[in-house]
Amino acid sequence: MALIQTKSSSTLPSMNHDVNQPPKVLIVDDNTANVELLKVQLKPYNYQLETAYDGDEALEKTRAWHPDLILLDLMMPKKSGYEVCQILKNDKSYCLIPIIIITALRELQDKIKAIEAGADDFLIKPFNKIELVTRVSSLLRLKALYDDLDSSENILYSMVHMLEERDVYTRGHSERVAHFSLKVAEKIGLSEKEIDYIRRGSLLHDIGKIGIREHILTKPGPLTPEEMEHINTHPLRGYEICKHLKSLIPTLPIIRHHHERYDGGGYPDGIKGEDIHLFARIVALTDTYDAITSNRPYRRGLSAMEALKIIDKERLSGQWDPRLITPFLEVMKEIKKV
Ligand SMILES: [Fe+2]
Ligand SMILES: [Fe+2]
Repeated sequence: MALIQTKSSSTLPSMNHDVNQPPKVLIVDDNTANVELLKVQLKPYNYQLETAYDGDEALEKTRAWHPDLILLDLMMPKKSGYEVCQILKNDKSYCLIPIIIITALRELQDKIKAIEAGADDFLIKPFNKIELVTRVSSLLRLKALYDDLDSSENILYSMVHMLEERDVYTRGHSERVAHFSLKVAEKIGLSEKEIDYIRRGSLLHDIGKIGIREHILTKPGPLTPEEMEHINTHPLRGYEICKHLKSLIPTLPIIRHHHERYDGGGYPDGIKGEDIHLFARIVALTDTYDAITSNRPYRRGLSAMEALKIIDKERLSGQWDPRLITPFLEVMKEIKKV
């Protein structure tokens, strides 16, 4: 599981528009005269244009060409515009591509149906050129903003990846924590959106270690109290790094509070119980599990079975939310087949 792939399974698309290239617009209509008309009207604006003449071709071209915007007719052979729109908007890799429905239908019912399918805007035929160009350019601006956001978040993922790659003992830690955490989140019935926040927050939970002195991070032996104090600043450092990114705001509790204890004895804020966000309570468990099953220079990691036994035995120790222990153990037994 490569960390850089994270976006392909997230709410944000993995294939950003190349800023050096003009935006790509896919025109989809089974009527060739309509396609030609749209091409002529958009030509002066220096967009890259591609065409598709039925629903299946629209999906193929989207997957192969990664447009920045789609102009989509509704009534087409093979798949209707509604179906195409629904398929793309339900696919995390494509859901942020703006779709403008172009239709001759004037009925309110059809508009509602297209909105339900996830369309971003409408143009009713016959439309005027100014209307077309204004809507296209404003949605392309929005797409460019999403892409920027995506790039900033991706840079942070890459930073964590590089940080962990430097040390054989931490390699893959955040990806494993993300994988375990999202499975626990699924188990306790959190929504798809919440699961996505947990996955992204888990991937970034230790990003603050970027600010920790390297010789301490890689020290092949137990840490002194001073070194421990320094390393324990990583949740706050991580919070400071990520708090400026709006898209990461829901993940901040994980980054700041994954070392809090349910009984209040953790750090950095010493909060307890339900004052610790549920996301952070989940990651507190999966993070500990991964730490105790990983090798360190001065000790071998425990087996999955041993680690789960310890966590089960310590369920009332006050470290973790006791209600999360059973779903956590169930999930880990399924994953590790123990
Ligand atoms: Fe941490
Ligand atoms: Fe961690």
